[in-house]
Amino acid sequence: MSSAVVFGAGGGIGRALTEALAASGRFDRIHAGARRLPGDLPAGVEPFAFDLGDEASIAEVAHSIGGQVELVLIASGVLQDASHAITPEKSFRAIDAEAMAQVLAINTVGPALIAKHFLPLLPRDRRAVFAALSARVGSIGDNRLGGWHSYRASKAALNMLIVNFAIELKRSHPHTIVAALHPGTVDTELSLPFQRGVAPDRLFTPATAAGHLLTVIDALAPADSGGLFAWDGTRLPS
Ligand SMILES: NC(=O)c1ccc[n+]([C@@H]2O[C@H](COP(=O)([O-])OP(=O)(O)OC[C@H]3O[C@@H](n4cnc5c(N)ncnc54)[C@H](OP(=O)(O)O)[C@@H]3O)[C@@H](O)[C@H]2O)c1
Repeated sequence: MSSAVVFGAGGGIGRALTEALAASGRFDRIHAGARRLPGDLPAGVEPFAFDLGDEASIAEVAHSIGGQVELVLIASGVLQDASHAITPEKSFRAIDAEAMAQVLAINTVGPALIAKHFLPLLPRDRRAVFAALSARVGSIGDNRLGGWHSYRASKAALNMLIVNFAIELKRSHPHTIVAALHPGTVDTELSLPFQRGVAPDRLFTPATAAGHLLTVIDALAPADSGGLFAWDGTRLPS
């Protein structure tokens, strides 16, 4: 039995990843998690509810899956959320402690908690992948524009955790790949306010983005573990 788990399956990219995995027929079991369970998941996909702010909900999913998991995909994240006064800051003057803490909680601490409960479920004797959707703007080495302080910092910290987890698993899980992925600009709710100026051929549909990401994941080798990879397979500086 091979299993895949998608966190954030109610989001634009997460949902497309879930559909692509289901269509591929490569996994015996696909578990798809969201805060609000989507009612129309592909047939056979097993839904679960979780909230990144509730560690017990993540532990509960790991416990209920029970067996080993060959693929963990984290497709959750936040860039702006009017209900929590989260807006990408253009200047340090706009930094708000609560909003910043919330972005870090969702983009950094949440994935770390998923790692805490799901890295132990990865098999030691065969290939497994733990991948989180990050963003190119979280690359410290690639930062030329600045701004978006909380989002960039949260993704940079996520990229660091990915490096750390790769180092920690290297001996015990020699076939495992831990990776951060940049999906490109994808036409979802998250990017909607920021799509102006994006060339049409660089604004991917969620389905196209999911195809890119699964192709990148397939091509990764254990030597790539810890890296940040763009949608076209290019390795970016973390
Ligand atoms: N779209 C892009 O152009 C783009 C570019 C670079 C990187 N990314 C990254 O790709 C990932 C997916 O983005 P997307 O475009 O698919 O965004 P999206 O459609 O807004 O989906 C984001 C998902 O995160 C979930 N989420 C937020 N807070 C959560 C919490 N506390 N607990 C559980 N789930 C939570 C949301 O759940 P609900 O549905 O319950 O709200 C939603 O399903 C994000 O990490 C984003 O940073 C996207």
